[in-house]
Amino acid sequence: MAFDIDRFARDSEGVTWDDLDLDVFRDDPLPPRTLRTLRYMCDVEYHTVCYLRDMLVTPSRADPEVGTFMTMWNREEFWHGEALAHVLELHGITVTYDDLKARRVKLGWRDRIAPVRQSVLSNIVGKDFVAVHMLWGAVNEWSASAAYKRLGVLEPHPALGGLLRRIVAQEARHVAFYTTQARARLADNPKAQRLARLALRTAWQPVGSGISSESEVTHVMNHLFSGREGRKEIDAIDRHIARLPGMSGLRVVADAMDARGVAA
Ligand SMILES: [Fe+2]
Ligand SMILES: [Fe+2]
Repeated sequence: MAFDIDRFARDSEGVTWDDLDLDVFRDDPLPPRTLRTLRYMCDVEYHTVCYLRDMLVTPSRADPEVGTFMTMWNREEFWHGEALAHVLELHGITVTYDDLKARRVKLGWRDRIAPVRQSVLSNIVGKDFVAVHMLWGAVNEWSASAAYKRLGVLEPHPALGGLLRRIVAQEARHVAFYTTQARARLADNPKAQRLARLALRTAWQPVGSGISSESEVTHVMNHLFSGREGRKEIDAIDRHIARLPGMSGLRVVADAMDARGVAA
C-alpha cells in the first residue's frame, strides 16, 4: 500500500482540543497513576525535536519523502505534547519549557555528542541506514499507538478518551508512513535487513528510555502493558515487526517488557 506523502503534508495539522470539555477535570480529576503516565508521554512527545535533530544529520535527511515526513511529524508530535501538557496543567502539573530544557541539559554529554556519533555512524552505513531508521520509527510508532490505546481502555474518563482518539488517529498515519518505507527499503536487501535486526536486537528500548528515569519507564510499562490484555498489544507489535522483510522471529518488545518485570 502506497503512502501519499503530498496528501499527508497538505492535511497535516496540530491536534486540537478547544472543542473538548477538558475543564471537567477540575471537578473530576484523573488519578495520580494516570497523571504520572501522562507526564511521561508528554515528555516523550516534546522530545521529538531532539530525535529529529539526531535524524537530520543522517542520510535520511537527503530523501525528499522522509524529509517531508519528518517536518510534519515533528510538528504533530509537538502538538501532542502541548495537548497533554494542557491536561496536566488542569491538574496543577505545569510542564514548562524550562523543565524541558533542564531535562535536556541533564542528559549531559551523551546527548550533546549524539548527533555527531549518529552522523558518523549513519554516513558510514550509507543508504541502508534509512531502512533501519524507518523500521525503528515503525516500532516506536506502533508502541505509541498501543500506549495511547491502552491508556484509553484503562482510564475511561470521557474527556480524556476524546483527546486520545485524536492523537491515536495521527499516530496511525505515522505508523503507515514508517511501515510503508521500512517494507520497501528492507525488501530484497539482505544487508539492510541484517543491520536492522542487529539494531533492534541490541539497542531497542521502550520509547522514553533515556529521557525519563528507569523507575518512570518501569511504572509506565507496568501501568499500560501488564496483564493479559497489555501483553496482547505487545505481542501484536512483535508480530507486526516479524512480518516485515527479514524480521521473522524477532521479539524485541516482549523482551523489553520481560526485562522490566512487566507480568504477562
Ligand atoms: Fe505522538
Ligand atoms: Fe507518532
